[in-house]
Amino acid sequence: MPSVSEWAATGKLCHDKRVTTKPEHGLAEMVGEAHAAYRSLRPVSARWHADACKVLPGGNTRSVLHFDPFPFRVASAHDQVLIDVDGHRYIDFCGNYTAALLGHSPATVQAAVADVLNEGWALGATHPREVELAQLICDRFPSIDQVRFTNSGTEANLMAIGTALHHVAAVAEGSGDRRTIGVFDQAYHGGVLSFGPQDGPHNPMNVPHRFRVARFDDIVGLDDLFQPDLACVLVEPVQGSGGCRPASPAFLQELRRRCDDTGTLLIFDEVMTSRLSPGGAQQRFDVLPDLTTLGKYLAGGMTFGAFGGRRHIMAAFEPSAERSLTQAGTFNNNIVSMTAAITTLRHELDADTLGEVNDRGDRLRADLQAAFTDAGVGLWVTGLGSMLCVHSDDDRLVELYFHAMLAQGLYLARRGFMALSKAITDDDCRRLIEASADWAASIARTGG
Ligand SMILES: Cc1ncc(COP(=O)(O)O)c(C=O)c1O
Repeated sequence: MPSVSEWAATGKLCHDKRVTTKPEHGLAEMVGEAHAAYRSLRPVSARWHADACKVLPGGNTRSVLHFDPFPFRVASAHDQVLIDVDGHRYIDFCGNYTAALLGHSPATVQAAVADVLNEGWALGATHPREVELAQLICDRFPSIDQVRFTNSGTEANLMAIGTALHHVAAVAEGSGDRRTIGVFDQAYHGGVLSFGPQDGPHNPMNVPHRFRVARFDDIVGLDDLFQPDLACVLVEPVQGSGGCRPASPAFLQELRRRCDDTGTLLIFDEVMTSRLSPGGAQQRFDVLPDLTTLGKYLAGGMTFGAFGGRRHIMAAFEPSAERSLTQAGTFNNNIVSMTAAITTLRHELDADTLGEVNDRGDRLRADLQAAFTDAGVGLWVTGLGSMLCVHSDDDRLVELYFHAMLAQGLYLARRGFMALSKAITDDDCRRLIEASADWAASIARTGG
């Protein structure tokens, strides 16, 4: 698999100049000092962490939230601000890994959910809100004629895969055993659908489907992927957790063409990327998949997932269909998520708002890259629109950057990932750019 710098050389950067200067000496010591400073200012979080570790292995129940020496614990969150139990305020550039696109505690969602709770919530029956939400989603995403809901993006991907395997088996009856799912290196489609390097070790948490891993954004590599046993391809148009790597339009177009030629179903995981335009990345790239999965921000931060696509494929869920599929889930049409999602789509995320958030992300990415490049530190920034990620070939540099930003009251994901919310302002971005430039200059002085 390519190193990040090789990968940067493929032209995915928002900025041309790449720099390799970095402090070779003392990085480990600097990381140790950063941890000590962090720890000394957060005695309450430290106590919570100690208590947590007794009953939650690792001290948490969502592995990505851990960082060294221990994560701060949040007491409250409003708009773009998190406040921790020690009283520190952070501008939140992590945005719950894209799920907090509206910012924290959005008033519209809060009011709508509070209202609907007066009418009951554990219904165990169908209700109008799921229909209203399905209509909004089908109107919004060009390739979705019909949709079904789940409780998470992971579940949506599992359901989409099952639907695709069923469809291809039904269409290709008698013409061989098509059960392989094409995926790409570094792809993350949920905790049980997580792929590292192309030839990397098997993830024991993954579901036992038959996967074939190809190199992301490598058109030539598709020759090996498209073998006769391939049933479907699951791909993110921009790999989010995989490092904010946008696919080239040519790659997505080639995937579409090959899927059409071979009767393979193309599934876009738009759990993160659907924020890139009102109709998702599929609209932005003008490549339509057969099935799409959604999640994260769409229910205004509430639990959510959905999968949908072409009517003739989704028709498998008709009770009258031959060998019809079922999709179970006690909370699939839960009132809170349905209501929150309706409010989000009706009142919070019009084209102008999404355009602004994504344009702000593009500007931030360019300005951050300029700050690192001008200082001569080996960090680079990838992504598209409101999804960004800071990388280095030396992970200690990202660790230092992360802690330096925390010390300035700026929170991003430990791995350098950022997802702007609509609550983030140009002033917030300016603070991050200035803090990054100051930090980069100080790093360059110590190790240049
Ligand atoms: C692209 C993508 N797909 C699926 C998922 C899984 O979503 P969830 O965490 O809601 O199960 C994620 C979560 O980060 C994701 O980024």
